[in-house]
Amino acid sequence: MSPGCNNGRYAIRWITASLYIVLRTELDRSTELFLADKLHVLRTMLRERPDDEDGLREEIELESEARRYQQFYIRLLDEHGVPIMTTPGMDEQLDLAELASRTRGRSERSIAMAGRHGQPLRVTSATVTVGTLPTHSDTVQIAIDVSQEVELLARYRMWFWGILLATSILFPLVGYRIARHGIRPVEEIAATARRITSTNLRERIGSEGYPSELASLAGTFNEMLERLEESFERISRFTADIAHDLRTPVNNIRGEAEVALARARTVDEYRDVLESSLEEAVRLSELIGDLLFLARAESPLTELHRENMNISELLTTVRDYYEASATDAGISFVVKEWAHPLNAELDRSLMLRAVSNLVSNAIAHTLPGGTVTLAATNEDAVIRIEISDTGVGIPAEAIPSVFDRFFRVDPSRSKISGSTGLGLAIVQSILALHGGSAEITNQLGHGTRVTLRMPVLAMR
Ligand SMILES: Nc1ncnc2c1ncn2[C@@H]1O[C@H](COP(=O)(O)OP(=O)(O)O)[C@@H](O)[C@H]1O
Ligand SMILES: [Mg+2]
Repeated sequence: MSPGCNNGRYAIRWITASLYIVLRTELDRSTELFLADKLHVLRTMLRERPDDEDGLREEIELESEARRYQQFYIRLLDEHGVPIMTTPGMDEQLDLAELASRTRGRSERSIAMAGRHGQPLRVTSATVTVGTLPTHSDTVQIAIDVSQEVELLARYRMWFWGILLATSILFPLVGYRIARHGIRPVEEIAATARRITSTNLRERIGSEGYPSELASLAGTFNEMLERLEESFERISRFTADIAHDLRTPVNNIRGEAEVALARARTVDEYRDVLESSLEEAVRLSELIGDLLFLARAESPLTELHRENMNISELLTTVRDYYEASATDAGISFVVKEWAHPLNAELDRSLMLRAVSNLVSNAIAHTLPGGTVTLAATNEDAVIRIEISDTGVGIPAEAIPSVFDRFFRVDPSRSKISGSTGLGLAIVQSILALHGGSAEITNQLGHGTRVTLRMPVLAMR
């Protein structure tokens, strides 16, 4: 059980016990005050009006009758101990001889005594002088029935024990309930976590009514599920795309072979079939190569073969490779000169592959008369390479998806151009391996610009 619960329990017991002591003290004090008051009245009467017998009788015999809740009894005795006046019924209530012997020689403070019927009493006795010129003195005995007070205290004590019992049993129970209630969300989160498999990643934890800390835990958990669901979906979409893209060239080879074998063919016809099969096979092996590359690039074990390389040399190599095809397509290919040499620690073959992919995209999407430009700068310790074209551009809504695997703005073009939709995905993973980034910006009709950023030094 929690310490807070224990503290609460002790506090309640302590308060209840203290209140009991206060109540008992106050009741005693009010009894004592009542007795002192009565004694004072009688003492004054006997001193100042010793002959006012009616007044005395009223005070001793009648007044007590009028009191219903706190019965009291008074007896007045002369100097020889002979009773002069007594509250009616006093003798039946208590043993007067006992009263006399118990109070003899004591101060005026009251003492406890049991009545004839066992009822609790407080009794006191005092000597009072008679007349202003004291001639003799009488004795006043007063008894007051304190049954009501005793009963009240007894009831209070009962309550006290009741509360003690309740706090011993109820508090632990309530504490247990509260603890269980607090743990419930955690159990629900755990139960959901146990239920989740790859087939029901859609499940989420409802966090309504949870305390804020657990609601945020549930929220974090749900966000994780969201990410997992997304990656699972991506993977299954990817698998479906692979299957689809592999099937097309295989079907083509098979169809052509079947048609060719249906009857006897000339040597030239066989050559045609073999050439087109070879084309499909090349495409197939390129596709498989790209897929393997992406799979390896994602592995955390992939290592780069970094070497210090000159960026201008890299861009010139790419230009030399693509210049002829750009010229064929009627496109001018420009490599912008820059003032000082730029060097960086990069994986040469991977960077060549990335820039080549981008240049081939640029040429493929630029009409004759257009321009493809390569430029490089550095921003502190970051190299920036820009590949821009004056081509057809990419629709704004497609921009967020262009780096996705198998994404093509116009899927129907893929058959003609042999595009796979893996080029930009490969660029992105190469840059990620280098601790850099690839960004695509464009204006439809004004061409496209891809910006590559990579740190000059390998981050170790
Ligand atoms: N420079 C560009 N201009 C216009 N569209 C482009 C450019 N580069 C890429 N794209 C679009 O992005 C898609 C994805 O490119 P990529 O991943 O290289 O695949 P692929 O070139 O095999 O189609 C392309 O199909 C094309 O629609
Ligand atoms: Mg491409």
